[in-house]
Amino acid sequence: MEHVLINIIENAIKYTGKGGEVYLECYRKDDGVEVKVSDKGIGMSEEEMGSIFDSFARLQNAERKKIKGTGLGLTIVKDIVTAHNGNISVESRVSEGSTFYVWLPGLIVGAPDKKSEDLTVAVNITK
Ligand SMILES: Nc1ncnc2c1ncn2[C@@H]1O[C@H](COP(=O)(O)OP(=O)(O)OP(=O)(O)O)[C@@H](O)[C@H]1O
Ligand SMILES: [Mg+2]
Repeated sequence: MEHVLINIIENAIKYTGKGGEVYLECYRKDDGVEVKVSDKGIGMSEEEMGSIFDSFARLQNAERKKIKGTGLGLTIVKDIVTAHNGNISVESRVSEGSTFYVWLPGLIVGAPDKKSEDLTVAVNITK
């Protein structure tokens, strides 16, 4: 699971220009926990988003900016999340940024009566 978070945060930083912002949030959702990782980086088109979880997918957005990678990070992330019965999704706009949502069932130990807002953890990183 550590691998999942590291990969998504690494991507958010990697595909964001200097001075850009990466924002992390973690909160209760349904019967689980959701981690949201947003960046204000290069973003992706609808068409590009369709293949990001495929093996060796390297999108035009990365190629154009000459940002290197293997294109395997998100494939492994998706496999791990699926193996934990979780879910991963993405929203993005070219040149505006991307947001990845990773939802995992269960995981909140204790605090069953706390509202989502009380459990939210937010971190803002400036590159
Ligand atoms: N936060 C993001 N913003 C914009 N594009 C992204 C973002 N995350 C992933 N992508 C795009 O999706 C592609 C696939 O991501 P993935 O993490 O699988 O591979 P990679 O980053 O290219 O390589 P690796 O993770 O192995 O170093 C990337 O090449 C990039 O084009
Ligand atoms: Mg990656």
